[in-house]
Amino acid sequence: MRYLTFALTKGRLADKTLELLEKNGLGCKEMEDKKSRKLIFVNEEKKLKFFLAKGPDVPTYVEHGAADIGVTGKDIIMEENRNIFEVLDLGFGKCRMCVCGPEEAREKLRHHEMIRVASKYPLIAKDYFHNKKHQTVDIIKLNGSIELAPIVGLSDVIVDIVETGATLRENGLSVLEEICPLSARMVVNQVSMRLEAERIRKIINDLKEVI
Ligand code: PRP
Repeated sequence: MRYLTFALTKGRLADKTLELLEKNGLGCKEMEDKKSRKLIFVNEEKKLKFFLAKGPDVPTYVEHGAADIGVTGKDIIMEENRNIFEVLDLGFGKCRMCVCGPEEAREKLRHHEMIRVASKYPLIAKDYFHNKKHQTVDIIKLNGSIELAPIVGLSDVIVDIVETGATLRENGLSVLEEICPLSARMVVNQVSMRLEAERIRKIINDLKEVI
């Protein structure tokens, strides 16, 4: 039996995923040692390998077959737009992708004015405004602290993740439109899904029972 390799998103998402896998005996004891600098962890009994990666790299590893299975956020899956299968909503890491900004931007959105949109997710922003709303906008790519953009006058609105809403509230911004709900998803390499169909389907079904 060959190893099935998992690419997990470093941090809270990996911890939650391992917790779920553990409930089916599919976890990895070695990974509980947080001080370890090892990059690859093995569950010999079940012939599984695990590695930790940055969220946006997970779909890349999975598309190229360096990992058979990956776990990352729906936001990243949408933005990376890779040729992979999304097979399961893991039900944690829940938040929303939203258009946010100061209240006065609401009118500009309503009248389909030409606005500037700052986001870490230019593809999602473009798809939403161009394809769903048929509104021409100027998209500005940023890498973090997106809420700054409308405050300092870089953009009219932002497209960003809202979880508790605290960042928006503390900076005088609001949710103006909701694009879609987000959560952690399991993705699978397209060839692995065929070659290892039985094992992968069993993992998916076992996880469904504990979600
Ligand atoms: C994310 C997101 C928002 C914030 C939302 O940022 O971009 O800024 O969390 O969470 P809240 O609704 O609970 O306040 P993150 O902390 O990942 O950092 P970033 O600004 O560098 O993207």
